[in-house]
Amino acid sequence: MDKLWIKGGIALNGEVRISGAKNSALPILAASLLANKPVTISNVPHLRDVTTMMELLGRMGVCLSVDEYMNVEIDPTSIKVFEAPYNLVRTMRASVVVLGPLLAKYGQADVSLPGGCAIGTRPVDLHIKGLSAMGADIKIENGYIRATAKHGLHGAKFHMPTVTVTGTENLMMAATLAKGETVLTNAAREPEVVDLANFLNLLGAKIEGAGTSKITIHGVKSLGGGSYKVIPDRIEAGTYLAAAAITRGKIKLKYARPDTLTTVLEKFENLGAMISVENDTITLDMKGNRPRAVDIITAPYPGFPTDMQAQFLAINTIAEGEGKVVETIFENRFMHVQELQRMGAHISLDGNTATCVGVSHLTGAPVMATDLRASASLVLAGLVAQGETVVDRIYHVDRGYDCIEEKLSQLGAQIKRIS
Ligand code: UD1
Repeated sequence: MDKLWIKGGIALNGEVRISGAKNSALPILAASLLANKPVTISNVPHLRDVTTMMELLGRMGVCLSVDEYMNVEIDPTSIKVFEAPYNLVRTMRASVVVLGPLLAKYGQADVSLPGGCAIGTRPVDLHIKGLSAMGADIKIENGYIRATAKHGLHGAKFHMPTVTVTGTENLMMAATLAKGETVLTNAAREPEVVDLANFLNLLGAKIEGAGTSKITIHGVKSLGGGSYKVIPDRIEAGTYLAAAAITRGKIKLKYARPDTLTTVLEKFENLGAMISVENDTITLDMKGNRPRAVDIITAPYPGFPTDMQAQFLAINTIAEGEGKVVETIFENRFMHVQELQRMGAHISLDGNTATCVGVSHLTGAPVMATDLRASASLVLAGLVAQGETVVDRIYHVDRGYDCIEEKLSQLGAQIKRIS
């Protein structure tokens, strides 16, 4: 099993190119199932989760081709199988986003229930309730969501009591081909939801209000084809900014979307970073200073993203002062705390709050990644720790970070993949 070996203590310095957003690419690839003609998706990141989604579509009989720049061409018309099997869904929960498109277009879908997850229970009850409100007949059988809509879906008014990103996406995709109007309230406002809506509208869908908490979808009879470019990954961008901040370095991100990172950039300023933004570039400069600890409360967009929480906790471990990180989205998203403690961090955990008193230095150690963003926090800790850190189980890192060791090496880090 691959591991990342890191020798810490180098201030990162240089430029890095931000890849396409994983959380946009996955639902957009799934949404291509709704099209009647081929679609081409560009700026698709080279990630394990993306490969899993392509494998899932391929197993359904969809024709996919990928060129050397990760432009993915998809012809969904050859589909024969309407199932997302357990062995793929268990490696990537986001596979559930094929449910809405399959049901809306083909009137049937068998999608394995995702099951447990390292960061919390993560139910999909709202996906199911929303689709039921649109006329789907849904049963849970043998660990699968078995959904049918013999006479197609119809529009509905659906209020989501909890803000759910993939839930909003599933219902929005399903509603594009439903008869009549669908109104989703308390919808997720994440930029990835907007990206998906823009893609669907390009194919001929009629979606209004994406990016606000009320999305209205006027169902259309069919969707055509087209070419679409995925937005830059705001979490990858934030993670590289965090790598520069924790090492007291300076970094310039290229091909980023600063407007999707407002809350995160504010926190970097609070911890003492100089931030400058110009079009699609973001520069962070610590001027060699130690970061100051910051308080974080995660919240749905435009609040502070739960997917950046672990990285900021890593920064707090070596920052000046005490910082509190409160996780409000997932109930068990602090698996990285024990590993950071093994590197010398002073963190105390009380329910959903991690209080950290910054130490002057961390020490390298063998550590274990438990989920995608937790693994990023361990890499960050390794970059600043004295001595060598080996991060095990980095298949978690590979799910969400395109060429992480190449990009960090380019910034001067001593990092390599070992087996
Ligand atoms: C998406 C992101 C993930 C991010 C998360 C929160 C993708 C592929 N993944 O995950 O990176 O961390 O948003 O920003 O886009 N919930 C329910 N019932 C449901 C659905 C969700 O109770 O039917 C709860 C979840 O348990 C959680 C909260 O809603 O507590 C938010 O989860 P959700 O937004 O659905 O996360 P994902 O879409 O799975």
